[in-house]
Amino acid sequence: METTGVRMLGQKDKNYKQMRIVIVGHVDHGKSSLIGRLLFDTDSLPPNKQEEIRTMSEKRGMDMEWSFVLDSFQAERDQAITIDTTQIWFSTDKRDYVIIDAPGHREFLKNMISGAAAAEAAILVVDANEGVREQTKRHAYLLHLLGLRQIVVAVNKMDLVNYDEARFKEVSDEVNAYLTSIGLEAKSIVPISARTGDNVAQKTQAMPWYKKGDVIEQLDSFEPLASLSDKPLRFPVQDVYRFDGQRTLVGRIESGSLKKGQKILFSPTNEIAEVTSIEAWPKPEKDITEVHAGDVVGIKLDQPIFVERGHIGSAKEEPPMLSNVFRVNLFWLSNKSLKVGNAYKIRISTHEVMATVQALEKVVDTDDLALSETDELKRNGVGEVVFRTRDVVALDPYNQHQLMGRCVIYDGFDVAGGGILNMDGYPDQRINYIEKPKNIYTVDHLIPHQDRARRNGHFGAIFWFTGLSGAGKSTLAMNVERVLFEKGYHTYVLDGDNVRHGLNKDLGFSPEDRAENIRRIGEVAALQADAGLITITSFISPYRADRQAARDISPEHFHEVYVKADLDTCESRDPKNLYKKAREGKIKEFTGISSPYEEPENPDLVVDTQANDLDICVNQVVEYVENHIRIPKNKLQAVKA
Ligand code: ADX
Repeated sequence: METTGVRMLGQKDKNYKQMRIVIVGHVDHGKSSLIGRLLFDTDSLPPNKQEEIRTMSEKRGMDMEWSFVLDSFQAERDQAITIDTTQIWFSTDKRDYVIIDAPGHREFLKNMISGAAAAEAAILVVDANEGVREQTKRHAYLLHLLGLRQIVVAVNKMDLVNYDEARFKEVSDEVNAYLTSIGLEAKSIVPISARTGDNVAQKTQAMPWYKKGDVIEQLDSFEPLASLSDKPLRFPVQDVYRFDGQRTLVGRIESGSLKKGQKILFSPTNEIAEVTSIEAWPKPEKDITEVHAGDVVGIKLDQPIFVERGHIGSAKEEPPMLSNVFRVNLFWLSNKSLKVGNAYKIRISTHEVMATVQALEKVVDTDDLALSETDELKRNGVGEVVFRTRDVVALDPYNQHQLMGRCVIYDGFDVAGGGILNMDGYPDQRINYIEKPKNIYTVDHLIPHQDRARRNGHFGAIFWFTGLSGAGKSTLAMNVERVLFEKGYHTYVLDGDNVRHGLNKDLGFSPEDRAENIRRIGEVAALQADAGLITITSFISPYRADRQAARDISPEHFHEVYVKADLDTCESRDPKNLYKKAREGKIKEFTGISSPYEEPENPDLVVDTQANDLDICVNQVVEYVENHIRIPKNKLQAVKA
């Protein structure tokens, strides 16, 4: 083992396991002490360094002051060539941990986002006395921004609160609530004292009520990023060559492996073909039957399916996501600010696509990591930006694939920014592209639409209510249903809360479950309308793509009704107390708080429940409905005839 906590990376055996971590937290909550402790307790400090620190502490009349460890390294690091090549590390029985440079600096953010120094795990340090403070929040937010998901929270200075379990619980709840509100979850929360070493590298006797592992144990339980060859196959097509009537797809295998004879699915087109031959450069002597991550190859297919630059080859079972909306945690470099509504060229792997900025969700000041409310992202700013493309693109979120999950943004020919793809809150839209079943034929009804309409006195239709929870969709829907019924119409409401007790009781609120919820209701609504019912659906239905898919099932019947009230209004109404719970972190993925809602772009009707009372809204909808389900006079004649 080496004898220093600072060394040049890359000197060790290549196979030596290593995990890159960041240690973050509010100033004075004990980051440096924890680092010192971790190094000391894992025997990662050279003896002379221990001595040096002891002398330094004694000189100043203190106990061992662990943060001096860091100060003394800093002095060395200042003389080192660059910070990138010299790192602080410590070893456990399981592996080496490399502590990546402190966050808060622009360069750090830029490095993290550009992939120069992606961390795999994080320790968030919180003072047991002070609890969650401003920087705790900012740094936690940073972890979220950087796509980090393996987080251990260390509640430090437990010795100063008499190792009190109740205080620990309070702080844990506070931390959990904040983390949940930004879509993070701590793998564990450990009560520690960096000064005394309690629960850092050794389980302490001082807190018998704490039954789980110490910080090191928690870190050791984290998974290292899978190596690129162990990840699913990704073969982004770089180019298509045609020679002698034969077609060769050229590109680099970014992850996984590809075999001769394997069936490959290409996205976003969803076409499958078999690999008939593989070529690689430089040309090997023998025939190649398998290639791996990093290899540059050319492949031939058994079928002339449409494939072009930018399409991604994968195994059928583990394809990339498909989406026409995606979020980029973006580092902006251009002098021209990024603004909502602007269109930019985005390169994801080998695919280039024009995308419009749909929303600028958050902007972070890179100096102090404060969140700011602005509608533009300035040079050197970091933000969460939602982009929309016309057609679906194939992509992997960064937290699943650190290589494919990056993108570069151009303004004209200039690189304007770079970032990582973050699909939190957005579903895979692949479900909309599942092929229709083979060998199943549709059967025609023997009753023409007009005949049903004649008997009912009106046509069937779908009035698709969308809006935030608490916007008033259900109240409005049930009242409209009542009025229409009284007027003699055949009508029925499909309501989210009701349907989720039966037909959709297997579904939760993950993006994919919501998409499936809406897909099923889209189908049921289309059947109801076909049967002649005036169908009113009352679902948040937060995604534009899902509402569009519902419309596409029977466009002639479909009317999108935006039941509009802003988030503040819905939250103040909070009829089911759900917003309160969501803010407390007790409900995850709550629409408007921790899960997105995409407003309709061109709704057929807008009902403003914030500005108008219920009666006005009901009348507005009833009038609209009546205008769209009447049988026109000329048709009525034709029907009767
Ligand atoms: S949708 O997003 O899939 O369209 P749906 O309309 O079916 O949602 O159900 C929303 C209702 O479920 C809300 O009115 C609310 O009462 C309840 N609910 C429970 N958990 C959540 C959540 N995480 N997000 C939104 N609504 C929720």
